[in-house]
Order: sequence, then C-alpha cells, then structure tokens
Amino acid sequence: MFEDRLPDGALSPKLSHMAVLAGQYAVAENAVAHGGHVRTIAAGHYTVAGLSRQVRLGDFVAHRSQTGVHLGEVVRVEPELTYVCPIEPGEPIGIQDTIIRKGAFRIAPSDGWCGRTINSLGEPIDGLGPLAMGLESRAISNTAPPSMTRKRVDTGFKTGVRAIDIFSPLCLGQRLGIFAGSGVGKSTLLSMLARADAFDKVVIALVGERGREVREFIEDTLGTDMQKSVAVVATSDESPMLRKMAPLSAMTIAEHFRDQGDNVLLIVDSVTRFAHAIREVATASGEPPIARGYPASVFTELPRLLERAGPGPEGTGTITAIISILVDGDNHNDPIADSTRGILDGHIVLQRSLAEEGRYPPIDPLASISRLARKAWTPDQEKLVSRLKALVHRYEETRDLRLIGGYRQGADADLDIAVRQVPIIYEILKQTPGERPSADAFTDLATALKNASAGMVPAKGR
Ligand SMILES: Nc1ncnc2c1ncn2[C@@H]1O[C@H](COP(=O)(O)OP(=O)(O)OP(=O)(O)O)[C@@H](O)[C@H]1O
Ligand SMILES: [Mg+2]
Repeated sequence: MFEDRLPDGALSPKLSHMAVLAGQYAVAENAVAHGGHVRTIAAGHYTVAGLSRQVRLGDFVAHRSQTGVHLGEVVRVEPELTYVCPIEPGEPIGIQDTIIRKGAFRIAPSDGWCGRTINSLGEPIDGLGPLAMGLESRAISNTAPPSMTRKRVDTGFKTGVRAIDIFSPLCLGQRLGIFAGSGVGKSTLLSMLARADAFDKVVIALVGERGREVREFIEDTLGTDMQKSVAVVATSDESPMLRKMAPLSAMTIAEHFRDQGDNVLLIVDSVTRFAHAIREVATASGEPPIARGYPASVFTELPRLLERAGPGPEGTGTITAIISILVDGDNHNDPIADSTRGILDGHIVLQRSLAEEGRYPPIDPLASISRLARKAWTPDQEKLVSRLKALVHRYEETRDLRLIGGYRQGADADLDIAVRQVPIIYEILKQTPGERPSADAFTDLATALKNASAGMVPAKGR
C-alpha cells in the first residue's frame, strides 16, 4: 500500500490483493512524467536513470510489465543511477521500462488480522479470503518511539517454561534472544513461549523457514490461541526482499496492537535468516562486506528493528520480542550473534550437548541471562536462584572428577548437596512442547525436591 499512484495495468497475481485494497493503480499520467527508465539489469538488481532526485534509500518503486505490476526497493542512490532490488525474483523487466516512485511500503493492520497467516506484503496466504484493512496505514520501516517517552519495563510474567521462569525470568516489554546451532531446539522453545498467558496478542514472523515447518508451527503452536495471533511468513524459497520484509511487517502489526494498549508478544524465527536476506540484497547492490560477508547495513538494520520492540509510550501497551539466532557452526561469537547479544535485554543459550543428553529444552542455566530478572524475581527467589546456580556450577565443574571416581561423599558438604539435588533440578527443568505450561516453576521445583528427599521420586539425572 502506498500514497502515490501508478499507471493502470494488469496486476501480477501476487500483488493484486494489496493493490486492489489500496485502490491506487488508477491512471495518473503525471506520475509517469516523474518516473525513471531502466538502464541496466543484473541478477538480483536493476538500475534506473532519472529517479535519483525523487527517491530515498528504502523507498519502493513500481514497474509495469505485460505480466502485471511489480515492486522493488531502492537499495542505493547515485547521482545518475538508482539501484533497485525487485521483490519478486525473475521479474520480466526490460531496458527502458518505466519505473515509478511509490514511497515507503505501508500496511494497514486491523483486529481482523487475528487468526490469519499473511505474507510480508500483508496479503493473506491462508485461503480464508480477503483481510479487513485498518483505518491507519503504517510504514513498515517505522522507527522506535523516543526513549524518554517510553514506559519503564518492570512487570514480570510467567512463560510456563520452567528453565526460563526459574533462572532467567522475563518482564513485559523485554527483548530476548534464543541462541543455538541448527537443529538444537530454537523453534520448539519459541513455540512453547508463544503459549504464555500474559499476552493479549501474539505476532509471529517466520523467516526463511522450510515450507513444511510453517503449517506445523502455526497449527501446533497456536492451536486454540490462533484467534489472538497473526503469523507473517516468508519461506526459504522466497526472494531475499520478502524475507527481509517479514520481520518488519510483523513488527508493524505488533506496533498497531501495542498502540491499542495490548501486551503483544512478537516472535521472530530467525533473525539470522533476516540478516542473511539483508546480506543477499546488499551483495546484489554492490555494498562491500565488512564482517564474515555481512555488509555494514546489517548492523544498522538489526538495532533499528529490535529497538522498535519494548514498552510503548505511556497509555499504550508493550511489545515483548523473543527472537531466535542461529549461531553458525555453534560459534556463539559470530558477528550476528555478537551484535544482537549487545542489543537485547537477555539471551537464552541452548547447548547441543544438553540436547544430546535428552535434556530438552536444552537451556544452559549458567550461560543464559535475563537482564531484567531482578525485576521479575522476589528477593527470596533471587537468593534461591543464586544458590541453585552455585550448586549447578559445582556439579558441572566436578563432572570429570566424579566420572573417574574421585568423589567421596562427606568430604565436601556443598558438593554432597549438589550431587543430591542437581539431578533433581535438571529433571524438573525438562519439558516437552506437548506438556502443559508450568503455572509456577518455583513451586514445581520445591515439590520435586521435597518428594525426592522423602524418597518418593528417585533422582534420575546424570
Ligand atoms: N522441548 C523439546 N522436547 C522434545 N524434543 C525437542 C524439544 N525441543 C527440540 N526437540 C527436538 O529437537 C528437534 C529440533 O528442534 P527445532 O526444530 O526446534 O530446532 P531448531 O534449532 O529450530 O532447528 P533449525 O536450526 O533447523 O531451525 C525437534 O524436531 C525435536 O525432535
Ligand atoms: Mg527452527
């Protein structure tokens, strides 16, 4: 949806919904006069002469071919040439074709979007008919509210995932990253977190997922909660532009609900694939790489996106963002992991070794941090967790020693307690997505420890 108009023409099936809703592809001869003309065409981008003075970086442009109207984003502006990345790969574009400026890409979310699955352009892809448009259209490249107008983050909530509620509890409006290698359990954990009761709305952006996983994630995760959820999907086979836009559109929908006063949960799976999409677009436009092939724009886009989450201004709701980050080759210091860790208010680290032991969700309680945990714990809980962490640490650092038979009961009282209690703690932290979310993780833990000391439950862990 845009403010400008475009010459009349057939619409590509993919874009028709959006265009019809905007009702803006009417004839406008003067718009043509302000357009430019295609100069060069390459895989992944084309250049336009005559647009440089009209467009800004990030603006959208449109092009009409025999197959319809196609969109592209301005990714570089030079005095004579404008570089454009088309949204649809394989767009039939020719030298001298006319290109029209369309301005910022906008969507108009409404409550009618709840229960729906849409693509990055705000079009329904669930076969449930047209979407009800909201009264206000919003640019998907919006900026964060000014920091001094934002509410403070200090209301804790329960996620229902015991390992998080005990060791790294969260607050409404927090931004949390889940860091792990491939196949370790990121998406499964996100799906468990999406069921937290604390939220009025849930917006999910699935970026670069396998097509097979999308329906599974949406139907299995949201189930009966679908009515308070919107899913924005750009699968791995879609163009980098669409993959790049998915989290931006999802954030814009979350902002709409936040401004109505809702507490919104925004889930992005995964931010790494968002970064990959930006890298692909940047590479196509000739932006030089600066770290591991990533261009500088990735490191400005990431904070721009993530800063938009958080508490809204007074009188509005909050956006709690939980995002997954794929750490390449389990290297937790790759550039995307590093830069997002600095922007976020907490990180949950999933370890492959724990998954291999069958300790799902494989959350490492010592490496995971919630920077707002102190606002979510009671003082007693904080003291208890610090003691639990010390026990877990003691247990882990003596693992090799115990394996070679170097542990003697009675020699170290603290270690004796760790050996007795840590396996019980590990056992209570195990949770499958099919299980009911925990209503109170600390009560569950206390009950497990009490039962074990009464000999009711044999301690299983390692
Ligand atoms: N809480 C859990 N309980 C039981 N099994 C789990 C749990 N979490 C993950 N798994 C197992 O691990 C597998 C991989 O999980 P998942 O797809 O969530 O990983 P991922 O990190 O999102 O992978 P990718 O990097 O490919 O996106 C699942 O298919 C499931 O078998
Ligand atoms: Mg996944």
